Amino acid sequence: MAEQLNIITGTKDEMYGALLPQIREVIADEPDIIANMANVAAMLHETFHFWWTGFYRVLPERNGTGEILVLGPFQGPLACTRIRKGRGVCGTAWQEACTQVVSDVEQFPGHIACSSASKSEIVVPLIKNGIVIAVLDIDSAALNTFDETDRLWLERIVELL
Ligand code: SME
Repeated sequence: MAEQLNIITGTKDEMYGALLPQIREVIADEPDIIANMANVAAMLHETFHFWWTGFYRVLPERNGTGEILVLGPFQGPLACTRIRKGRGVCGTAWQEACTQVVSDVEQFPGHIACSSASKSEIVVPLIKNGIVIAVLDIDSAALNTFDETDRLWLERIVELL
């Protein structure tokens, strides 16, 4: 496995295009999803210098009465640990099993501000056998960072997990 990320530059499309095969190679021989989530978060974060890049996993509630998103592998500042279904951008991506692209988080009803520095966000669900098992959450310190190019490539990257 490659132990170092090759330097990636170019347009956003070119950068994702160069990153995807490196991610595929890094996770190919590793069956543990947490290890793979950790390296996916690291590679995305190092390539694009996002504010926060990481995963929340769908896990049983502590009292055993349902499920909740729990913080998983990430890069960036301290983050909220638990998010309910339907709450914020992450909880909405989970509930709707659909990627959320938010150009201004302050306009998103119920947005959970883990950090006031976060201005725009994309959340991509990881779906296995029709069930959301985790979400990839990326936050940017600038408005309007994410678009259809990010959605397309990040959905492809998440599918590798
Ligand atoms: N802003 C997210 C919460 C997670 S943190 O930003 C890392 C949300 O509204 O779901």
